Amino acid sequence: MKLFLDSGDIDEIKKAYGLGVIDGVTSNPKLIAANWNGKNADFLEALDKLGRKDPVIVTLSSHERDAMIREARELSARHPNVVIKLFMTEQDLSVIGELKGRGIPCHVSLVYSVNQAFLAAKAGASIISPFLGRADDFGDDGVRLLTETIDMIRGYGFDTEVMAASIRHPYHARQAIRCGAPIITLPFAVLEKMYRHPATEEGVQGFLDAAGMKT
Ligand code: E4P
Repeated sequence: MKLFLDSGDIDEIKKAYGLGVIDGVTSNPKLIAANWNGKNADFLEALDKLGRKDPVIVTLSSHERDAMIREARELSARHPNVVIKLFMTEQDLSVIGELKGRGIPCHVSLVYSVNQAFLAAKAGASIISPFLGRADDFGDDGVRLLTETIDMIRGYGFDTEVMAASIRHPYHARQAIRCGAPIITLPFAVLEKMYRHPATEEGVQGFLDAAGMKT
């Protein structure tokens, strides 16, 4: 099982790695715009400086086929473990095989149905992401989408990992864990809420006070 941090903020990423629970990083155009002025290359360089070689998922800045392939090749040359995030569109589907043939793994995001997940896996995606929170936003059942996707991938034996994404709160995280999601990506705010508990904090304080210890 792998846990990814969905972030473009290098301080958050360092903090999450410091906890010893993170296996990689995912990003999206919003995060790269907010933290790196839209420049993936700068983000990859900052990650490189951390000395970690874990997978990092980045999006492309173009949606034109040749430019997509060119940029994917450039990005994968910059970092040993880049995974290219694509979207669940006709154009993106058609690019997966080409990149796979060049040894560049693809992650298909914005997946909202088992049919979409099936086609992305069939096209050769290494990772596919059902978007739990956004599915819920449409009145769908994000957790059910995740479960059905995992069942479909396992049933066919596709060489594709399912990554639960658009995790908005600890309950989503809990549900994804209970489904046995092979990968979960979540923002730092959710990660923090997962390890914090008022009863733990109260208990720790009580014990520290009783022993006269300070933190
Ligand atoms: C993950 O890959 C996405 O960047 C992220 O989960 C989107 O989350 P949101 O639906 O809360 O914007």
